[in-house]
Amino acid sequence: MDQAAIKCEGIKKSYGEDLIRVDALKGIDLEIYPEKLTLLVGPSGSGKTTLLFIITTILTPDEGKLFLLGQEMSQMSESKKAEFCRKSLGIVFQSLFLIPTLSVVENVSMPLLVAGMPQKEAQDKAMVFLKKMQIDHRSEISPSHLSKGQQQRVAIARALVNDSKIIVCDEPTSALDQAAGLEIMAVLKELALHSGKAVLVVTHDHRIFSFADRIIHINDGQITAGKEHE
Ligand SMILES: Nc1ncnc2c1ncn2[C@@H]1O[C@H](COP(=O)(O)OP(=O)(O)OP(=O)(O)O)[C@@H](O)[C@H]1O
Ligand SMILES: [Mg+2]
Repeated sequence: MDQAAIKCEGIKKSYGEDLIRVDALKGIDLEIYPEKLTLLVGPSGSGKTTLLFIITTILTPDEGKLFLLGQEMSQMSESKKAEFCRKSLGIVFQSLFLIPTLSVVENVSMPLLVAGMPQKEAQDKAMVFLKKMQIDHRSEISPSHLSKGQQQRVAIARALVNDSKIIVCDEPTSALDQAAGLEIMAVLKELALHSGKAVLVVTHDHRIFSFADRIIHINDGQITAGKEHE
């Protein structure tokens, strides 16, 4: 079996202190593998977004270890970690974070420009991914003029442009109608199957469960089912 792309060992995370303390994650053990589309599902407040923020190193666990591509994150310097995550992680946040003053193609080029790629090359590469997401015909306008589903495609193109091994998406279909949601899931499934990526999707959208290679259930800060990788 391949090495886990994401490995959580005894991860705990709490917010606040004393009377207002919330134990959001109570000891998460988890392995997520390449070539698989894995769903993380659970009710509101169960800790999905907190776990996603830990996995993307936006939050640091109180206890436990996070390994990405075999490397333990707490052992890396902040600058090395930032560079490692820029290369290894593609993230689609629920609130997309597209920049309205830039065009679609400029938004998607941004991770490449930050990594030092010349502008022309970055834009050409961005266009390849916009085409893959079937939104290349809107490349020159502001994302604020696109529908929510189209914006979602742009955000996914931006997450893919670095060719990172791990793709993480928070509720990628929640704002979409059935047809648009299923199309997005088909693209994510293809990436796992044919590009060998580890794709982790946080959702409570039952319509997309059939796409999963594996479904992990989280409840009240603990994994309740789907922990084992078959
Ligand atoms: N910044 C914060 N400060 C205090 N408590 C927080 C904070 N963020 C989350 N929590 C609490 O931690 C718990 C887990 O929240 P989290 O956002 O991870 O849940 P979720 O599964 O993503 O929920 P949803 O489906 O509603 O997005 C909840 O009880 C929530 O109220
Ligand atoms: Mg959430």
